[in-house]
Amino acid sequence: MTAASKPVLQVEGLGVSYGALTALDDVSWAVGAGELLGIIGPNGAGKSSCYDAVTAMVTRRGRVLLDGEDVTDVPAHRLAERGLKRAFQQNAFFHELTVLDNMLAVMHDTAGTGLLASTLAPFAAARRRKASEAGAVATLERFGVGAEYHHRLPTAIPYGTQRMLSVALAHGARARALLLDEPGAGLGGADMDRLVQMLHALKREGLALVVIEHHMDLIMAVADRIVVLDQGRCIAIGSPREIQQNQAVLEAYLGRTA
Ligand SMILES: Nc1ncnc2c1ncn2[C@@H]1O[C@H](COP(=O)(O)OP(=O)(O)OP(=O)(O)O)[C@@H](O)[C@H]1O
Ligand SMILES: [Mg+2]
Repeated sequence: MTAASKPVLQVEGLGVSYGALTALDDVSWAVGAGELLGIIGPNGAGKSSCYDAVTAMVTRRGRVLLDGEDVTDVPAHRLAERGLKRAFQQNAFFHELTVLDNMLAVMHDTAGTGLLASTLAPFAAARRRKASEAGAVATLERFGVGAEYHHRLPTAIPYGTQRMLSVALAHGARARALLLDEPGAGLGGADMDRLVQMLHALKREGLALVVIEHHMDLIMAVADRIVVLDQGRCIAIGSPREIQQNQAVLEAYLGRTA
């Protein structure tokens, strides 16, 4: 994010407690259009809790601003309607629906193919259905989920493609800011390359991206800036190069590898 551009998504003093445990404490960051903010940190550092806090899925402290507007009190589903989208650490599909129907389901809100509309104007409804199907197909392909998989169940496609499908479903019809939780988890070489290409493409399209990742080579290759969490606190924020040379970061990781 350049100094001149207004952040798409900004969080200030975010905090989450589960009973006596402080999972996240006073964390602040911002991400602009076309920028990728990485979030790293050891297991249990509070990375996923940070997403829960941003997307109003948990009781939290602090403020969230979307396009400069304070949306702290806006509920989770309304945030999604406004383009704040999130993918989960574990793949989350409608397991009985095909890949294409999964995509149609998450795009449905904007397709306008309700029962009333189809009763009053069946031909218009059919046309809209076709248009939304074309939109779903295009979105799947844009995220690297090829046509050969569209009519299969999500669990019957290769694992690497399932991870891409997760990102496509999170993005849905439209996203301004997209939060990904370990998109590279379990991916091998070729799938990892596809993911890197996809992240670069999404940046070029002007999306504001936040990516939690344990794969250091992935995050160092795609992130513009990186936030490092440790035990719920932000211990460093900076460019990939700055983070790689940061003593507190090295200690946070080395202290837990034994
Ligand atoms: N729903 C919950 N109830 C109670 N404690 C929780 C809950 N969710 C997370 N925690 C705790 O909060 C802390 C932060 O967890 P979180 O899942 O945010 O970490 P993380 O950085 O995403 O870890 P990982 O890299 O393993 O995914 C951990 O101590 C975890 O056990
Ligand atoms: Mg997590």
